[in-house]
Amino acid sequence: MESTPSAPRFALIAAGEPVVEDFAREVQAGLGGFPKSLPCRFFYDAEGSRLFEEICKLKEYYIPAAEEEILRKHAGEIAASVPAGAMLVELGSGCAEKTRVLIEALLRRGGALHFVPIDISRSALEGCAARLLALHPALHVSAVCGEYRAGLAHLRRHFQGPKLVLWLGSNIGNFDRGEAAEFLGQVGRALRPDDRVLVGVDLRKDKETLRSAYDDPKGVTARFNRNILSRINRELGGHFDLQKFRHVAYYNESAGRVEMFLVSTAAQRVQIEKLELVVDFKNGEAVHTEDSYKYSPEEIEALAQAGGLRILQAWTDGPERFRSVLLAPA
Ligand code: AVJ
Repeated sequence: MESTPSAPRFALIAAGEPVVEDFAREVQAGLGGFPKSLPCRFFYDAEGSRLFEEICKLKEYYIPAAEEEILRKHAGEIAASVPAGAMLVELGSGCAEKTRVLIEALLRRGGALHFVPIDISRSALEGCAARLLALHPALHVSAVCGEYRAGLAHLRRHFQGPKLVLWLGSNIGNFDRGEAAEFLGQVGRALRPDDRVLVGVDLRKDKETLRSAYDDPKGVTARFNRNILSRINRELGGHFDLQKFRHVAYYNESAGRVEMFLVSTAAQRVQIEKLELVVDFKNGEAVHTEDSYKYSPEEIEALAQAGGLRILQAWTDGPERFRSVLLAPA
């Protein structure tokens, strides 16, 4: 453990944390093939996690505020849905700002609270744990650094006992609809009958709201998107000129997803030293970097059903942009 914000209330557990070899393999496959793509989980190195936090503060990126509105209103009810003493698990916690509302509600039920954030970004986990531990003397944090599936496997083996699992912020949106149901089913199978899952799902909405949320006027999302090229430069000896790639976010309405791309603004050849790879780009050629799925209320019901979970409650924010769903194993 390199950094211990407040031992012994903090532990950092590595469980399938993505390593540079995984990144190398995915970049090789994604830029070697056609059409070109890069997996969005590699956005989140230290710089990418910092940029994502900056996105969360933009007024155009309505997701955190919409979800926080719901959580503030219903935190008591959510906390009361699990037995006293239940631990709190969060998938893809990032920085867990909104989680504070639920942590406080669970702490108000008395006693201590064990918080288990699972995230691929070690820097985000450490920063978040340090902040939470400083605020709450009765909190214990076991941070699990790894991808969802590895984190879930670790959870099943090492953390028994009642739990509330959070999957907030439309993190589910990076899965396609089939994968999302399949993964929810996996979460469900890791739970006991009185455990609960709270999932935050972004709703389908008008094109313009989505466009400005994913292509903000300050260009923070553009920097977030291009950071994956900087990461290739930093970790794999890439020679990308970031000026020569344009950020594009497009709402594919029939598929119900925002698609993000980096589009080459010139015919160019880029060398990636550690992969011994040379990548040719045509002028206007796109690299697909992210899908962010949006759901209708009916699609959310179908999702829960396909995942083998029961919807206990569903709450929507005032402007009907976002929905939080409290689920139980069926
Ligand atoms: C972290 C996956 C929820 O899709 O809205 C934000 C990532 N990408 N802006 C999302 C993201 C561009 C975000 N999630």
